[in-house]
Amino acid sequence: MERIKLAIEKAKASRTDLLSPNSSSSHHPGDAGIFIEHDSPERDEDTPDDLGAVQYAQTAVVSMDPVHLERHRVVAHQKAHPASWAFDVLRTQVLQKMDESGWRTLAITSPSVESGKTVVAINLAISIAQQTNRTALLVDFDLRRPSVARSLGLNRPKSLNDFLDGHANLAEALVNPGIERFVVLPTNRPVNGASELLASAKVGKLIKDLRERYSDRIVIFDLPPVLAADDVMSVLPRVDCVLMVVGSGVSTQTEIEEAMNRLSKANLMGIVLNKDESPTQNAYY
Ligand SMILES: Nc1ncnc2c1ncn2[C@@H]1O[C@H](COP(=O)(O)OP(=O)(O)OP(=O)(O)O)[C@@H](O)[C@H]1O
Ligand SMILES: [Mg+2]
Repeated sequence: MERIKLAIEKAKASRTDLLSPNSSSSHHPGDAGIFIEHDSPERDEDTPDDLGAVQYAQTAVVSMDPVHLERHRVVAHQKAHPASWAFDVLRTQVLQKMDESGWRTLAITSPSVESGKTVVAINLAISIAQQTNRTALLVDFDLRRPSVARSLGLNRPKSLNDFLDGHANLAEALVNPGIERFVVLPTNRPVNGASELLASAKVGKLIKDLRERYSDRIVIFDLPPVLAADDVMSVLPRVDCVLMVVGSGVSTQTEIEEAMNRLSKANLMGIVLNKDESPTQNAYY
């Protein structure tokens, strides 16, 4: 907990003397500082054999615009990019902890909006997919303000919306954005009744299917802020673990503590302190 406390204190200090509303746009994803708090391993469930190869063969492949990606701070696929190290460090910490605990589904949330959840979720998923023995599936579960498709520049005719409405099967909604071993389940439109939907049997079955079908995959769920509504609380019992992204100067100490309280029953694997401006030892790289 010591590191989490440090992160909270740092966020509090940053709040008072940092960041005008627009100053974050000059930041860089490489500014992310990473704090992983290890909890004790809890469970390890066996899963059926992987059918991922069959599913993957049906998945549409689209190419992405490198300029668009960089503008949206999606950089983990560029090994020469000065920011990608941060996501690789995060990846390795996350994978070690997930492997040791038998976890394969990871939710990403934050106390407040605009903390960098989506940026972290996308880059972490890509960084995981860079490892040749891994695959990553990123699901946009921010059903009120979905933004994964926009960040990646995806414009697919079918998405999670259509799957949930019964107008598409899963294979039609999945897309491979031109990066090997990286698959996305985008959400194209905001959904009414997001919390109830996330608590529904249909979404429960979807999460279970994704976890079991892709047994060689890490499934990452990009969620809304935990304090924004009860959406996160609806999903948490259905995922293995959660990572909280705290934007430096974005959330107050009270908000961070309240968010931690709401996550108290979940396997909180750590906190990512994002948008941090202080120099790090890794700055050289
Ligand atoms: N490390 C960073 N440095 C500077 N800006 C960043 C950083 N990470 C994210 N941003 C910017 O902050 C804004 C919010 O990022 P992002 O959409 O990832 O946050 P979010 O927590 O998912 O927001 P929301 O709550 O709306 O879903 C974006 O403009 C993004 O480019
Ligand atoms: Mg987001």
